[in-house]
Amino acid sequence: TTVEWEAASYDMGGHDTYMHKEIHEQADAVDRVLRGRIDDRFSTVHLGGLNLDAREARQIRRVKILGCGTSYHAGMIGAQMIEELARIPADAEPASEFRYRNAVVDPDTLYVAVSQSGETYDVLAAVQELKRKGARVFGIVNVVGSAIAREADAGIYVHAGPEVCVVSTKCFTNTTVAFALLALHLGRTRDLSVRDGKRIIEGLRKLPAQITEILDREEEIKKLAEQYAGARSMLFIGRVRGYPVAREASLKLKEVSYIHAEAYPASELKHGPLALIEPALPTVAIVPDDDLLEKNRAAMEEIKARSGRILAVAHQNQEKADQTIVIPKNEDELDPILMGIPLQLLAYHTALTLGRDIDKPRNLAKSVTVE
Ligand code: AGP
Repeated sequence: TTVEWEAASYDMGGHDTYMHKEIHEQADAVDRVLRGRIDDRFSTVHLGGLNLDAREARQIRRVKILGCGTSYHAGMIGAQMIEELARIPADAEPASEFRYRNAVVDPDTLYVAVSQSGETYDVLAAVQELKRKGARVFGIVNVVGSAIAREADAGIYVHAGPEVCVVSTKCFTNTTVAFALLALHLGRTRDLSVRDGKRIIEGLRKLPAQITEILDREEEIKKLAEQYAGARSMLFIGRVRGYPVAREASLKLKEVSYIHAEAYPASELKHGPLALIEPALPTVAIVPDDDLLEKNRAAMEEIKARSGRILAVAHQNQEKADQTIVIPKNEDELDPILMGIPLQLLAYHTALTLGRDIDKPRNLAKSVTVE
């Protein structure tokens, strides 16, 4: 990275690992990404670094989000938020795939490059290729002044503060909040009503306290982790808003605990993965209290009928699950920001139980600056 953070930020502050410290910094981090950006008068947000006037914002016909790993997963959540709040077609793609497939570069598409470090080579190369073809590229980046931040035409800093652990946690959360701000901003230049704008702003303001509420459940999650640490493999399922959360939770578990994990849309279970279900393969189900609740319950029933064990993350206790981590409800569109947080703790405590090298998992580097 090109910018030094204050030395005090690297202090472990009584935590045994940076991962634990960074998980616990999330309420403050989210507070920072929101600070100074909310405009109550017009029920929107100000994003100083965007350099996009209302006329230009309205000309955007598509949004294409590019990132790797956790940043790609945050982008998947961001794409859904942009579609829901701004009604602009949006999707996310791994930057590494995008840059090798001679993608059609369209002048009416807003390209968003997402990166914690701002130095990931595949993302940087995708940005350079896009700019070479005349595209407009935004960065959603944590490290100020990093290569991707400099290369992008404009962007949003996520202000998560330094993230030292190789496994990204607080930066993921802040990136999803930054996407909510972008989606709200784009929405309010289009057809998102004042009422919905207010509703989302109220939801955003609730996030820090709700994150604290989730982190206060750590002891309970630790006990669950001890129960699941013996698994050789785990399945993570979710639908629509819950699916990127399942993807990210599965990545967290495999990176830090080395337990094999796989994420699937719950709707795809019957198209193959049901064959894997047996008592030795636990499933983590993301079950938000939204209009897909009944569908998610049906998926859990399918798993129970085949003697699978289920741990649910939900807004109310799930009878079909063996255990439920109940978390606070926010607005439907913002729920994915919170739903992965208990699963960061689950991954952390699983790794701790197994004696893993939590801050520096084998074979991984914090920023992948080579191909
Ligand atoms: C996150 O836990 C991973 N270590 C990894 O997937 C990471 O998100 C990816 O390499 C992208 O890094 P970046 O956000 O710094 O670009």
